[in-house]
Amino acid sequence: MTEQSAAHAAAVTDRARLAGSAYRSDRDLAARQSLYHWQTPRHDLPGIVAGQLSGVRGRVVEVGCGNGTFIQRLRADRPDLALLGLDISAGILARVPGPVAVADAARLPLAPGSADAVLALHMLYHVPDIPRAVSELSRVATPDGLVIASTNSHRDKAELDDLWRRAAGDVLGTGQGPARISLSARFSLEDAPAFLGVEFSRVETIELPGTVTVHDPEPVIAHLASYRAWADQHEAPFDATIERARTIASDHIARHGTFTVTCLSGVLVCRR
Ligand SMILES: C[S@@+](CC[C@H](N)C(=O)[O-])C[C@H]1O[C@@H](n2cnc3c(N)ncnc32)[C@H](O)[C@@H]1O
Repeated sequence: MTEQSAAHAAAVTDRARLAGSAYRSDRDLAARQSLYHWQTPRHDLPGIVAGQLSGVRGRVVEVGCGNGTFIQRLRADRPDLALLGLDISAGILARVPGPVAVADAARLPLAPGSADAVLALHMLYHVPDIPRAVSELSRVATPDGLVIASTNSHRDKAELDDLWRRAAGDVLGTGQGPARISLSARFSLEDAPAFLGVEFSRVETIELPGTVTVHDPEPVIAHLASYRAWADQHEAPFDATIERARTIASDHIARHGTFTVTCLSGVLVCRR
């Protein structure tokens, strides 16, 4: 690991930064989630997760539930389930209907075998010790319980990484500029089966490819700006890079009519 990627990994997993800034509210998470409104095909991720839970009865725990997108959908679709949302950020939980509790994926406040399904959606890359968190998910699931994780591919949204590097390079006057921080690289769709395979003998990956097409730069700029909690981790001035990215994306749209972003995320369904 390079010195820079070690520093990025520390910043991506820093609890004070996650709970106190990045996910203190759902402002930045919601900006990232809303980019998918412009994706084709539209994947109904909460619906996919609900579908995987069709054979599950009893208690379902979502670890790192954030602003409750999945919990709320499951409450509506599966009123028979006993749902519990956990997150390290009290702030983001404030508007999620209960029961919810502040808890760390590395030390779940649950008895062994007490959950019929455990969800860890787009969150394991934020945990300092991923194997320990996977072992916790396994510990609290019943022997025939289901664990569902999700994350992004290494290739996800490469055009946004390119846009950032161009904008940062223009701001610094260096041609191609330094890369932006990657949030999901520590637990990518490509690496996730190996992490999960330590605890689960069957790990099925459901890939969810798509293309975001926008006619206005703002959804793309809001996505870039949603990394503001990690502004200090970027070698180029954050706000100036965002402004330059807005100009580049606007010029691109003026010339080509649209700006497109290639997405690849996935759901991992794990059984013992
Ligand atoms: C990218 S958001 C995903 C939220 C939700 N699961 C979703 O997919 O919409 C990551 C969430 O994980 C939470 N989180 C980060 N590290 C955590 C940890 N060690 N234990 C529990 N939650 C954590 C964050 O506070 C944040 O709400």
